[in-house]
Amino acid sequence: MIRPYRPDDLDELKRITAVCFTSVSIDRNIEDKLGVIGGHDWQWRKLRHIDNDVSGDHARHVFVWQTPEAEIAGYITGRTDDDSKIGWIPNLAVDPAHQGSGIGRQLINHLLQHFRDEGMECAKIETLAQNEIGATFYPAIGFQEVARQVHYVMRLGDPEE
Ligand SMILES: CC(C)(COP(=O)(O)OP(=O)(O)OC[C@H]1O[C@@H](n2cnc3c(N)ncnc32)[C@H](O)[C@@H]1OP(=O)(O)O)[C@@H](O)C(=O)NCCC(=O)NCCS
Repeated sequence: MIRPYRPDDLDELKRITAVCFTSVSIDRNIEDKLGVIGGHDWQWRKLRHIDNDVSGDHARHVFVWQTPEAEIAGYITGRTDDDSKIGWIPNLAVDPAHQGSGIGRQLINHLLQHFRDEGMECAKIETLAQNEIGATFYPAIGFQEVARQVHYVMRLGDPEE
């Protein structure tokens, strides 16, 4: 079943995030190119996004999928914007042990209804070109591609070198 996020879910959300985003994360791509930065690995960076997603009022737009055994199988995070009327989905992940059984689809549909209830007129989600599931899944739900963005990164070494 889907239920609202509670603060004591955070460790589980982070565990699922660290396992799920190994091959589909900008933070991981950066580490693959440039190595560890600032003494922190890519999981540390990615998990900060989850802290942000559940901070303050954002937490109201976060939902988890709980199994009958009370385990968390997946989660979705959201943001609303009363001025733009565009709801944003920063993160969605389903534990690999539970993937492929419709949980991701249910979580998105739940958040889309929540956005409607909150007065949003559109929903926005971003995915990496390397994420094959995202490329088929989101259009199948009704999302239309509107833009492609390229991320660049460089080390700030000594300019004299
Ligand atoms: C993306 C993700 C959340 C989907 O969750 P899920 O519970 O496995 O998804 P569902 O079972 O609801 O399947 C939804 C759709 O995803 C696609 N899909 C799911 N598993 C797939 C697979 N192994 N290969 C290809 N497409 C797949 C299908 O289009 C499926 O639709 P269908 O049921 O009509 O075939 C999950 O795979 C995940 O956590 N991935 C890693 C993190 C990630 O990519 N997050 C999204 C970032 S934009």
